[in-house]
Amino acid sequence: MTTGAVRPAVLVTRRIPSPAIERIVERCELDYHDSPDPIAREELLGRVKGTLGVLVQSSERVDEEFLAAGPELRVVSTFGVGYDHIDVPLCTSRGVLVGNTPEVLTEATAELTWALILAAARRLGEGERLIRSGESWHVWPLFMLGIGLNGKALGVVGFGRIGRAVARRASVFGMRVLYHSRRRAPSEVEEALGAEYRDLDRLLNESDVVTLHVSLGPESRHLIDARRLASMKPTGVLVNACRGAVVDEAALVEALRERRILAAALDVFEREPEVHPGLLELQNVVLTPHIGSATIEARTAMALLAAENLIEGVEGRRPSCLVNPVAWEALTPRASG
Ligand code: 8YV
Repeated sequence: MTTGAVRPAVLVTRRIPSPAIERIVERCELDYHDSPDPIAREELLGRVKGTLGVLVQSSERVDEEFLAAGPELRVVSTFGVGYDHIDVPLCTSRGVLVGNTPEVLTEATAELTWALILAAARRLGEGERLIRSGESWHVWPLFMLGIGLNGKALGVVGFGRIGRAVARRASVFGMRVLYHSRRRAPSEVEEALGAEYRDLDRLLNESDVVTLHVSLGPESRHLIDARRLASMKPTGVLVNACRGAVVDEAALVEALRERRILAAALDVFEREPEVHPGLLELQNVVLTPHIGSATIEARTAMALLAAENLIEGVEGRRPSCLVNPVAWEALTPRASG
């Protein structure tokens, strides 16, 4: 523990794995919202005042109002890889560093994606609900038929770390991989993963399972809209474990209701924790509560990395995972001298 010098004041806005809290209190003066429930916005704005660093969750908007409430902030460290809830250009212009937690959640999110693919293809949610309902059931040749994956095409939209980790597992299920991303992957990557590039409309048209792994921004909001859903096969399955707003939820409800696609599986929603009421009525959609990275291993590693980014930022060091290096470059003369 450091003694003597004033320790930097930081805020952690939600309960996180305790090893990270232990690490933070070694170096900082911690204000901890030690609760599984989100902190109320007004309270958050009040508690940000006077802090040098804050460790936030993806449900907390870091915008003009937030930054105005914490004029002394040096670093915003988010507990996750996505940072669509943070106005990064504004942080950069104010000299606020933004940290995130890539890589440590890649495999967990890829595993959850495969759980969703299998659950949708083989109607696991529907089967589970049937048994729990107490209704009688018996096995017969046309009972609860799903679709097989072997020999089918997996379309991966967004070919960053998570998209590639999903693709890497496809051959185990006998699936071939098509992918789309803004930039085409190097040929060594395509070869290693046996992945073929397609433009988005062709990918939707040729894939049996489409899985989304893009970050959310203006160019990807409602990327999958009514027109794009209509490009999918009627036997197609759509999986979303990235951000809810990448899919037009109302259009998806229509497509599922009218059986224009076979099924969907969603871990993320447009207005979390709200879920479109139309989805709740449908049998052919699997719904999970944003648990892509929710393994003990991933969440512990995310917490430690977010804590490290926070500590580094408030101590004037470059955060290990920095979203806005431009902000660091602008600060460096100050930090080093
Ligand atoms: C987190 C996520 O659980 O990493 C992300 O972008 O969405 C999830 O892994 C979420 O950010 C928690 O706040």
